[in-house]
Amino acid sequence: MIYLVGGARPNFMKIAAISRAFEKYEIEYEIIHTGQHYDYNMDKTFFEEFKLKEPLAHLGVGSGPHGKQTGMIMERFETLCFTEKPDMVFTVGDVNSTMAAALVASKLHISIAHQEAGMRSFDKKMPEEINRIVTDHISDYLFPISPQDRRNLYNEGIDQDKIFLVGDPMIDNLLYYTKETEKISISKKYILVEIHRPVNVDTEQNLKEILIALNLLSIHGNIIFSIHPRTKKMIHEFELEHQLIALDHKEPMGYLDFIKCMKCAAVVITDSDGIQQETSILNIPCVSVRDTTNIQYTVKYGTNVLVKADRNKIYAAAIYPLYNEFKKSNFPEQLKQLNDGNASERMAKIISERNK
Ligand code: UD1
Repeated sequence: MIYLVGGARPNFMKIAAISRAFEKYEIEYEIIHTGQHYDYNMDKTFFEEFKLKEPLAHLGVGSGPHGKQTGMIMERFETLCFTEKPDMVFTVGDVNSTMAAALVASKLHISIAHQEAGMRSFDKKMPEEINRIVTDHISDYLFPISPQDRRNLYNEGIDQDKIFLVGDPMIDNLLYYTKETEKISISKKYILVEIHRPVNVDTEQNLKEILIALNLLSIHGNIIFSIHPRTKKMIHEFELEHQLIALDHKEPMGYLDFIKCMKCAAVVITDSDGIQQETSILNIPCVSVRDTTNIQYTVKYGTNVLVKADRNKIYAAAIYPLYNEFKKSNFPEQLKQLNDGNASERMAKIISERNK
């Protein structure tokens, strides 16, 4: 029995693709939901859209400081693992739920798989970087999404026999659902925005710069702003609501609506890891408000450009693709193969062969 653990929005698209692969390979699995995210449009909407099976357990941890959230997941997940004794804990991504579940499994000597292993921003101020490093160093199956991430694991001295370069289930899911989604029928050019990193939204100066840039850009096209709860909370706290008046701001969008919108956007402005990848695969210009990226291939071969949280820099980077033809991305053959929509099946095959 494999416990497929997740709890935050970016986990669910990966869990969807992995579930489909597990079912195809007749691998026995249950979903464990930590409850890190809990609002309907951060959580349940994805279970409905992807027709995920009901979680075997919902740990209901909710929001809180890192120590408290991580500790609560560990305490509750440990009780579950202790009584139910799964054969493997399968973790995805780099959120607090990922690391907490892996730490519990490690202490109970349960085999651990980590999807998205080896991803590094080399910025230890990002909580996700700590989550990735810790999880990778205690995992038994490491599934990097790119050759760069595999190199990072080699450089950290992780046993090469545990590392399997497979590609990214998030892209599996994107390709699975983009076939189904129609193009959105908006004739006017628009810019799609999703910003939520603490470094951008928890600092008044950075959040203000981003909102001013969006207002400057709104003269050139509609701004569709899918607002993460953290961002909404901080806009309220810094009394910046007036900066939203000219923007088409929405509650966090569901997956299908978001990719529908992304497919036809003139440009996407984000600080999300996943969206940097998705836009690169779909060949949509992407401006990332980040100092570093942990997905270098999106900058090297994809559509992604990095900018600081500075109104002029964001404006300049986003205005260019609005008025100029964008250079098509040209992935090397290996990256094309890794992003062929079958990464989850490659993981399922490895797990079923090694656990016969
Ligand atoms: C988490 C992940 C981040 C990921 C992001 C995607 C960590 C360390 N961070 O950040 O890597 O990119 O999810 O969304 O795991 N909130 C709600 N409703 C919810 C969830 C959160 O209102 O359903 C609010 C709460 O006020 C909370 C804040 O958003 O304090 C932040 O949520 P949290 O899960 O702590 O971090 P994220 O910023 O979402």
